Amino acid sequence: MKLIAVFMMLSLAACSDGPVSLVNEGDIVGDAVPAPLTDSVASIEEGRGIFVERDRGHCILCHQVDGLDAPFQGNVGPDLTGLGARLTPGQIRLRIVDASRLNVDTVMPPYYRVHGMNQVAKEQAGKPVLTALEIEHLVAYLRSLEG
Ligand code: HEC
Repeated sequence: MKLIAVFMMLSLAACSDGPVSLVNEGDIVGDAVPAPLTDSVASIEEGRGIFVERDRGHCILCHQVDGLDAPFQGNVGPDLTGLGARLTPGQIRLRIVDASRLNVDTVMPPYYRVHGMNQVAKEQAGKPVLTALEIEHLVAYLRSLEG
């Protein structure tokens, strides 16, 4: 029975051609997702690690933060120094979940969205790039940046 359920989910994923957000429409208020994606406790330290590390978020590929101890920081995206003073946690959350909701042409990848199987490696199908908790760690880190 379990196997059949898994098989059905896989074929559903294979059929969907567009991206599927893991956040419900009702969770989006204006340009923000006000509620945390998980009840687990987020950590600023963890968030900083995900922001910097190549095999995790690797946000510094495109962003920079003053005073962050990381040698190569990109400039494709905006400087996130002091971000916590400019955006609410909910606004930061939506931008990480799926920045294309605010700018369809953005080059920033959606970190909490799943794609049809034609666009991604099989192992990655149905899984977002980051987990709900990893996104909450990033929100905790970025909101801590106050200039
Ligand atoms: C491929 C480049 C790229 C990567 C990788 C990337 N971003 Fe972005 N990001 C952008 C660009 C470009 C923008 C500007 C928004 C737009 O394109 O409309 C942006 C905007 C943002 C904003 C809004 C900033 C503001 O001032 O309004 C936040 C927050 C953000 N990114 C966080 C992150 C985090 C966290 C990660 C890693 C998980 C990340 N980004 C990875 C390119 C990137």
